[in-house]
Amino acid sequence: MKKLILLLLPLHLFSITVMAQTPAYKNKQLPVDKRVADLLTRMTVEEKAGQLNQLNGGAFTGPAANDPGQKAKMEMVRKGQVGSMLNVTGVTETRTIQDLAVKESRLGIPIIFAFDVIHGYKTIFPIPIADACAWDPALSQQATAVAAKEASAEGLHWTFAPMVDVSRDPRWGRVMEGAGEDPYLGGVIGAARVKGFQGNFGKDNILACVKHFAVYGAVEAGREYNQVSVDRVNTWNFYMPPYKAAVAAGAATVMNSFNVFEGVPASANSYLVNEVLKKQWGFKGFLVSDWNSFGEMVQHGYAKDNKDIAMKAINAGSMMDMETRAMVSEIPGLVKEGKVSMKTLDAAVAAILTMKFKIGLFDDPYINCDPQREKNNVFTAEHRNISRDAARKSILLLKNNEGILPLNRAANIALIGRWAESADDIFDFWVANAKSDPYRPVTLLEGLKNAGAKIKYARGYQDDLKPDNALADEAAGIANNADIVIVNLGISGKLAGEDRSIAMPEIPESQLDLLRALKKTGKKIIAVVSAGRPLVLTKAEPYCDAIVYAWILGTEQGNALADVIFGDYNPSAKTVMSFPYAVGQIPVYYNHMNTSRPSSTDGQGNWYSRYRDIPNDPLYPFGFGLSYTTYSYSNLKLNRNSLKKGEKLEVTVAVKNTGSRAGEEIVQLYIRDLIANQIRPVKELKGFEKITLAPGQEKTVRFMLDSDMLSYYNSNGVLTIEPGEFRVFIGGNSRDVLEAKFNFE
Ligand code: NOJ
Repeated sequence: MKKLILLLLPLHLFSITVMAQTPAYKNKQLPVDKRVADLLTRMTVEEKAGQLNQLNGGAFTGPAANDPGQKAKMEMVRKGQVGSMLNVTGVTETRTIQDLAVKESRLGIPIIFAFDVIHGYKTIFPIPIADACAWDPALSQQATAVAAKEASAEGLHWTFAPMVDVSRDPRWGRVMEGAGEDPYLGGVIGAARVKGFQGNFGKDNILACVKHFAVYGAVEAGREYNQVSVDRVNTWNFYMPPYKAAVAAGAATVMNSFNVFEGVPASANSYLVNEVLKKQWGFKGFLVSDWNSFGEMVQHGYAKDNKDIAMKAINAGSMMDMETRAMVSEIPGLVKEGKVSMKTLDAAVAAILTMKFKIGLFDDPYINCDPQREKNNVFTAEHRNISRDAARKSILLLKNNEGILPLNRAANIALIGRWAESADDIFDFWVANAKSDPYRPVTLLEGLKNAGAKIKYARGYQDDLKPDNALADEAAGIANNADIVIVNLGISGKLAGEDRSIAMPEIPESQLDLLRALKKTGKKIIAVVSAGRPLVLTKAEPYCDAIVYAWILGTEQGNALADVIFGDYNPSAKTVMSFPYAVGQIPVYYNHMNTSRPSSTDGQGNWYSRYRDIPNDPLYPFGFGLSYTTYSYSNLKLNRNSLKKGEKLEVTVAVKNTGSRAGEEIVQLYIRDLIANQIRPVKELKGFEKITLAPGQEKTVRFMLDSDMLSYYNSNGVLTIEPGEFRVFIGGNSRDVLEAKFNFE
């Protein structure tokens, strides 16, 4: 017994010594705030500034100006001058850099690796705008959860998504990344995407980043990096709700936008960051700039040099610096001069370190560097199946004359169009790691063949979309011998994403020539339209018996389209952006304010707000999408005709499947506040429900309208509710609705 005690004693003493030597921040047992506080006491001001520094480590997703080069960057990692890297992916690549940070830097603070995981990582999902057309938050959540599983298996901890910028302008290449023009739907989908990425902050999850804060979706004329000019009333009511919802869903990070808001760049805008995001919304995570958006304060004419930039950014509440390297170089001097307080710096660094602790990086810096996970969790059959399901649910059926679709598999099909067989033209900008084999998407040609179709293919138009009569004639020749024509129109996926604004989002002239040639054959024409944005279809539409809007559907694009074309899936998607009637009508959106002279029927005669050459209405309104079956709406009922604050109004409607196929219908509820101290939109989406109906089946759909849903934001971002008359509308799109009224007292 004595011997045993003697033996144990030294061991016991040894472990006490080790405990004493282990700094508190390395002690897993302690709560995160204690560990962060301990680490801050050990850090030099240079090391703190280092945590605010994010460097690019791979392919450039922004201008490569003044890039210091790989060697210098690795040296900075060794010195503890880098808190995060973007665009480094893969277990081996991230491990190599993590090794330097953890083993060679003084305090061993791990790097957090980020990447633009926008719609899948290697298994690519429909682009976000398409996915949103499913009006299915659970599906959006599932898609981002799969993306997170794949990305985390390849060394990543953090994505720059979801983008929740409300967008009304299809000239902007980035409408593809969001959820369209509606603030409420944008918030629901944005929150679901955050939850999918982040889960419970487990090893199969990655941190989300809500972007671009704020109001970047309003870039003038849809031109990337352009100015934004929106007043606070519009900001609060149309643009803020999705950011707010995504932050409320627990988003760990937020990205500053490139634009200026009220004369001050968003990256240094204290109202946006300190006041709204942190104070009003209680955001506790960390912020990252957009690519050199700190640096671009110089071009904006807001800051003089890096020192000015760093001071203005951090004092406005911004934190991590993507690719300007102003924080790392200037913060130490600014602190010394008293222009930035240690308190401000510590708050920023603490927010970043807290997330690193929270995801377990300090306890296992190689948490996402497991080659087995990289091998087993990426591009699996299961993920592809989920992507195919999401793709089918994202496809819009915009026209279907005489029920020409779905097609019979036995038909002889003439498939026309370069995009139908060019895998390279399917994907957009945001699929950096899925561009080569085996990750290439299934083309429409392959998808139709996989489904057993009998096909003759012709290219129809050139890649550059210049007119080519020979190609159009060849296509018509093939069409002549077919039962039916499927023509893949639209623009290359390469024109979707950042820095891909176009002035004419419409069906190119060469494709209209092609349609004319095909029409002469007398065959029925089914158009499949590919684009990362709503295109103006007005000129093409009369030539087409059916229009299937494919967006960009991801890895399973061709298979999902075949599912719809042959009726294995009955389309159910509804557009989340209005399809303009003409480019000159942009922006056109459903939730606009009334004008002083809304229509000729309002006693204005001819003197009303209109175009002389085109209608005011879009070609296809927000919320629109057809099915292979039809639905009727009836019996809109309110359980009361007035309500008070805190009360609820029950709204019911009967929806019946009047066709011969089972289908899913997205039932939409809108309201209008007739008279208010701030004028309100003609319609605002307040609820929706996706229901499944068998042929002939009728269901009563029930919505509870909470009095809070009747409120709007005043210019300070405070929700306001006023008594008065309201309208409620229910329908299968924002145009064709039943209507009832009630009062708020
Ligand atoms: C610039 C884009 O605006 C942003 O959305 C993206 O996350 C960064 N580049 C990083 O690639």
